Amino acid sequence: MCKDKRFYITTPIYYPSANLHIGNTYTTVAADALARFKRLAGYDVFFLTGTDEHGQKIQRIAEEKGVTPKEYVDGIVAGIKDLWDLMNIKYDKFIRTTDDYHIKAVQDIFTKLYEQGDIYKSSYEGWYCTPCESFWTETQLLEGKCPDCGRPVEKAKEEAYFFKMSKYADRLIEHIETHPDFIQPESRKNEMLNNFLRPGLQDLCVSRTTFNWGIPVEFDKGHVVYVWIDALSNYITALGYGSENKELYERYWPADVHLIGKDILRFHTIYWPIMLMALGVELPKQVFGHGWLLVDGGKMSKSKGNVVDPVVLAEHFGVDAIRYFLLREIPFGSDGLFNNETFIKKINSDLANDLGNLVSRTVAMIDKYFEGLIPAPTAKEAIDDELIGLALETAKLVEKAIDDLRLPEALSHIWTLIGRANKYIDETTPWILAKDEAKKERLGTVLYNLAEALRFTSVLVSSFLPATAEKINNQLNAEHISWNSLSSFDGTSAGTKVNKGEVIFPRIDVEAKLAELDALREAQLKENAKPSMKPLKEEITIEDFEKMDLRVVKVLHCEAVKGAKKLLKLKVDLAGEERQVISGIAQYYKPEDLIGKYVVLVANLKPVKLRGELSQGMILAASTEDDSKLFTVSIPGELPTGSEVR
Ligand code: ME8
Ligand code: MG
Repeated sequence: MCKDKRFYITTPIYYPSANLHIGNTYTTVAADALARFKRLAGYDVFFLTGTDEHGQKIQRIAEEKGVTPKEYVDGIVAGIKDLWDLMNIKYDKFIRTTDDYHIKAVQDIFTKLYEQGDIYKSSYEGWYCTPCESFWTETQLLEGKCPDCGRPVEKAKEEAYFFKMSKYADRLIEHIETHPDFIQPESRKNEMLNNFLRPGLQDLCVSRTTFNWGIPVEFDKGHVVYVWIDALSNYITALGYGSENKELYERYWPADVHLIGKDILRFHTIYWPIMLMALGVELPKQVFGHGWLLVDGGKMSKSKGNVVDPVVLAEHFGVDAIRYFLLREIPFGSDGLFNNETFIKKINSDLANDLGNLVSRTVAMIDKYFEGLIPAPTAKEAIDDELIGLALETAKLVEKAIDDLRLPEALSHIWTLIGRANKYIDETTPWILAKDEAKKERLGTVLYNLAEALRFTSVLVSSFLPATAEKINNQLNAEHISWNSLSSFDGTSAGTKVNKGEVIFPRIDVEAKLAELDALREAQLKENAKPSMKPLKEEITIEDFEKMDLRVVKVLHCEAVKGAKKLLKLKVDLAGEERQVISGIAQYYKPEDLIGKYVVLVANLKPVKLRGELSQGMILAASTEDDSKLFTVSIPGELPTGSEVR
């Protein structure tokens, strides 16, 4: 296969989040449709996706959950892979930034940039937005908040490595100006040039020392590589750049398109190309920044209780309905709106009515009038030419639109053909032709043309709605489903037996479905509002419990343990015996608050020494999971000390 028939497409690598909503699936679904189309058109395709697993945010979440960052991301990544399977995403490689080969390649990249003088050591003082993993100077902040996302920023001062971005700025400006396809759509290109590049680039801080969940800088181990340097490198490390085996890298690089959301355009059109220039690597051919899917009232978020969970939507409407909505409703280069009502109405009109009806009417008529065998087109009439001409034309228009990444337009062309075929049924009135034996050949021709138009439709939609195309092919028993088969209107073989199947998109009762989804959302909101707790431990028997000896004791004396901020030393009375207990409750109680209290002691706990002090048992206390609040278990009345607690 010659080099120009290769196609390398990437999505961003996703932050591991358990809360992916349908907006998140847009980039991957769109990339999948493009990759499928290129495969269909005979290209040697490499479609890369993956996960971006390092950074302070992940480390913090893992700490809160009491697991290691790797344990945390492993679980999430498995869920993301399941989601892509559900969405029918056929990627060629899934890269994780925790993969060994990636870590090694990033270390080599960093070292190379340092050794050649593009990276230098200095110190950093400014502001950091942890959710965005972005540094800002005082003047860049908007009302003291992150200018990208509006969330609070944190003061950051640390020793750090810096990348001399400005050194490459002129070359980058020139590249952008002389390669009009490099940043698409056009409007985003001007934003990058005017807002960032032309005013002058500041050097970029490319290492951190305040946390360690990242790729260590090889020659200075206290530093980890800034997460965007780590993440962006994935597009070449996934192909083997920096490893022994560069076969894929040589075959596919430079990428034909990095498909990304508009929110991360700056990283992909400024930092990334400058990194590549510094490494002496060719730049990608195109970075395409798509718009966002929004819900009424703003950004999407699963935690707000919007029913925008792709798994829930797939259960109710099927994956192809979601894919259709995403690819049709986000206009080329701008934002689109999602709400359940628009979504359901779109399914009813475009998928159930237009496409679904065309399939069921065509197959049902072949079944009824020709015993299921597709008739031969022996009685052509002038009116057929319009349908035939449009089908041939549509294939070309769709190819062009997809090449320009105008996916909604490609779908719109296909739906024009579907509409034309439905109109052809109304114009030719097969049910009237069927009443007249003399018109049998004409009837056969009409049905052949419909079957063929449907075969065209199926091939055309197959990159967007793969499962639907398969269903149509099954009903038509179609053999010719290659892209080349759309060069002439005769790919259906007369005599083929159709399989009358189920309705491919059943009509949805809008009111009933909306009510059902509303109820679901209510339930989800209630569930979210429920207090969470640590999972319960394994069940025990009463005998297990009885091994523990819990007794009421009275606090006689209490003081702080010197040199230990968290500990108190208590003297308690246990039926006349005085015991010493060390308890980690100093942050919650002043010593004098506890004196005279009746509390519960685990009396048969083996004594231990804590900070050199003997502790004979343990005082029971209840606390929140994050230990922000704690109370000792106390007896609200007076009981003789030594009384059992059971
Ligand atoms: O940005 N509509 O990852 P990410 C459309 N790890 N697209 C949306 C969207 C919405 N409502 N919400 C999110 C990152 N996206 C980095 C990338 S690449 C070297 C590192 C898109 O998980 C978003 O624009 O935050 C991006 O393309 C993708 O989801 C992943 O975002
Ligand atoms: Mg994001």
